[in-house]
Amino acid sequence: MNGPDRLPLVVLISGSGSNLQALIDQVAAGLPAEIRAVVSNRPGVRGLERAQAAGITTRVLDHQAFPDRESYDIALATVLEDFQPQLVVLAGFMRILSPAFVQRFRGRMLNIHPSLLPKFRGLHTHQRVLDAGEREHGASVHYVTEELDGGPLILQASVPIEPGDDAEQLAAKVLAKEHIIYPKVIRWVAEGRLTLQNGNVILDGNPLDGPLILKNNGNPLP
Ligand code: GRF
Repeated sequence: MNGPDRLPLVVLISGSGSNLQALIDQVAAGLPAEIRAVVSNRPGVRGLERAQAAGITTRVLDHQAFPDRESYDIALATVLEDFQPQLVVLAGFMRILSPAFVQRFRGRMLNIHPSLLPKFRGLHTHQRVLDAGEREHGASVHYVTEELDGGPLILQASVPIEPGDDAEQLAAKVLAKEHIIYPKVIRWVAEGRLTLQNGNVILDGNPLDGPLILKNNGNPLP
């Protein structure tokens, strides 16, 4: 599992951890990364069980034990530094991170968001998409910046909205896409193909002028 050519990463979660599971499965299948730890701000969540079942170190840092965001984020950074991650993976981590924390991990922190950003930043995206009468929805992987859900986009996947879809059905369809695109992007980082330089996403030496889109055959454009 471990080795010098594996990208060390830490995954931050708050809940179910299905994206974490997709990553665990891909690492088991050869993605060259080492999940050094899974950190949750909530105790007792399913994602922690998933990590433990895979033999991954877990930490719980409960935000309720801290007086404010800044003190929590300082403690979180200290926990992360114990594991020396080269990449921090936010996988359903339901907390806004302070600018100091974001700056500390600039270019080394990814998030996945359940919408076709820049549309529908923030919470409850599935219901908001339905309420807005959209024809399609999806998920986006992006670098994390101080702007909530506003960092440089890397890869997106879309799903059509069928008549009769409710928020729960839509969430399940979007999650299935998330489980494809997030490990794909993490693989690009692990293979040294993807970086953030001066605010630009660079893939294979070329700046992206917008997010790549996953095609139905599973390959990203272009
Ligand atoms: C996903 O929809 C992710 O995009 C959002 O929170 C959800 C987490 O799901 N940020 P899971 O915990 O990975 O199952």
